[in-house]
Amino acid sequence: MTKTMQTETATTTDWHDSAFDVMRGVAAYTASPLMRGLTQVIARHPQADVAIAFNHKQVGCKMWARQSLFETVGGKFKRIVVLGGWYGVLAAMFFDDSRFEIQAIDSYDINPAVGAVAETLNGVWQGRFRALTADMYTLPYHTLEADLVINTSCEHIADLPAWLSLLPRGTRVLLQSNDYFSEPTHVNCVPSLEAFAEQARLGTVEFSGSLPMKKYTRFMLIGTV
Ligand SMILES: C[S@@+](CC[C@H](N)C(=O)[O-])C[C@H]1O[C@@H](n2cnc3c(N)ncnc32)[C@H](O)[C@@H]1O
Repeated sequence: MTKTMQTETATTTDWHDSAFDVMRGVAAYTASPLMRGLTQVIARHPQADVAIAFNHKQVGCKMWARQSLFETVGGKFKRIVVLGGWYGVLAAMFFDDSRFEIQAIDSYDINPAVGAVAETLNGVWQGRFRALTADMYTLPYHTLEADLVINTSCEHIADLPAWLSLLPRGTRVLLQSNDYFSEPTHVNCVPSLEAFAEQARLGTVEFSGSLPMKKYTRFMLIGTV
């Protein structure tokens, strides 16, 4: 190993250890189950990109979703199904909010590497949270018994109308997309809220709004298919 490599390895290790130590302190200070879950993710899944999934922009978009949902339809749900649920941050934020009464959240993602991380993050809500690996285009939606279907990853799926057509008529949905065209993994960005609404063509729209961020604007629709 060269000297540069040794220094880089040491720096990375130090950063990981420091992040863990800081998060353990934050978890102790706040007594927050979510912060404890995040601490466990850092300890058990050092390869997970939690710094991206839990950065202030991602958290801001999810707080916006949570608040808008509460104001629009309230906080009581039997089963929420989250598609493209990634590391389960949105689910954890719902469970962490005492205004919500949610019996269960199922988080589906096509990437088999993210489920274990989501389970760790939501470990404290064991029995109420499941992370499942599946392509959202292949799920038997009529059997899922969801009273809310959330997809905040609409910019990541090629054909939003085709996916929405799989949901039973009348299903309540919360959808987010954005105009962050320059991000390579975004295969289906939209230029405006109007374009997003046109793409989704919901049966009823209970909420529609935009959240400007530094590099892009996020769009959200709540309604029924
Ligand atoms: C980068 S993440 C989430 C970004 C989004 N802004 C958010 O935080 O909600 C997008 C996720 O969608 C997942 N995904 C993409 N296509 C999918 C599909 N067909 N079925 C299920 N999950 C999918 C990816 O694996 C990834 O974890």
